[in-house]
Amino acid sequence: MAAVAERVFSGVQPTGNLHLGNYLGAIKRFVELQNSHECIYCVVDLHAITVWQDPEELKRHTREVTAAFIACGIDPKAHIVFNQSQVSGHAELAWIFNCVARMGWLNRMTQFKEKAGKDRENVSVGLFAYPTLMAADILLYRATHVPVGEDQKQHLELTRDIAQKFNTDFAPSIAAYGHGEGYFPLTEPLIAGPATRVMSLRDGAKKMSKSDASDFSRINLTDDADAIAGKVRKAKTDPEPLPSEEEGLKGRPEAENLVGIYAALSDSSKAQVLKDFGGGQFSAFKAALVDLAVAKLGPIGADMQRLMNDVSAIDAILADGAARARALADQTIRDVKDIVGMVRA
Ligand code: TYM
Repeated sequence: MAAVAERVFSGVQPTGNLHLGNYLGAIKRFVELQNSHECIYCVVDLHAITVWQDPEELKRHTREVTAAFIACGIDPKAHIVFNQSQVSGHAELAWIFNCVARMGWLNRMTQFKEKAGKDRENVSVGLFAYPTLMAADILLYRATHVPVGEDQKQHLELTRDIAQKFNTDFAPSIAAYGHGEGYFPLTEPLIAGPATRVMSLRDGAKKMSKSDASDFSRINLTDDADAIAGKVRKAKTDPEPLPSEEEGLKGRPEAENLVGIYAALSDSSKAQVLKDFGGGQFSAFKAALVDLAVAKLGPIGADMQRLMNDVSAIDAILADGAARARALADQTIRDVKDIVGMVRA
């Protein structure tokens, strides 16, 4: 593969309950990057099964994430949209990276520690190796930029460490095959904007998450106007009026979260939102947030539902995306096999 100037890759797990955090932290950014970059967006079903998934639900959720991508504005013709398991190179490269990454590196991953909790002996080996598969996703396409929420930062640092170690371990072979100094790029995370870490609506200290037991903790992309209004009105706040400057949000995580959500949904900044609403009561701000959220998310939910009614159209998009992804991936796998020293046909 010729060196590519700039290529974006990112992924979303098909584990249900896609929410406002996934939208503002990731999918909305995916949409914006389409104008300036070649983009590859993946529904990461191999990652989803690191925790047991009901097979029928996994299929439904895979199609639902695909529908969300499209409903949010991703163009699957101009860019690539597919599900991970259709391109075998992800699993192949992940194995090679399992042999590059060190146990100590993976032992430090905070997401693994959180997800495994006290029951480490009983989680899947896949959950532990999850970050090497993620590095494989990105580097299979030699992607240079990865838009994600704040919670993925450590995994992207690990991806850079794996790329660097591979480039160093195989430096003579990489040069012998004419790939210059290093084969894999040191990928840049794209984590920016007012909503890189959207918090639970019930608890400003907890991330908004698919797995939170309370549906009131998150706004789902499929929520209708009534559900959105109910959740925003019930969102936890504090008794003080909104401050007029960002400084005043310190120590007020719930207020900061709602202001960040408003800023991201309106393509503005926290400072601007506070200029407009500072000094006012939460009730007025929440009413404006309901209107904004319904205006922005309502059409997305409706479009997702419409798309989900035509499963074969979604599957055709995934098959087409997978064929185009495979063409890029196969070249990397051939190069990597040469570099590592595997005899191939
Ligand atoms: P996943 O499926 O948990 O989340 C998808 C994206 O949504 C972001 N996100 C959030 N952003 C802001 N606030 C929140 N509360 C919030 N919750 C989730 C995540 O940061 C992510 O960008 N490991 C990844 C999937 C993945 C991937 C990759 C990403 C697999 N391979 C390669 C990038 C590149 C994950 O579990 O995302």
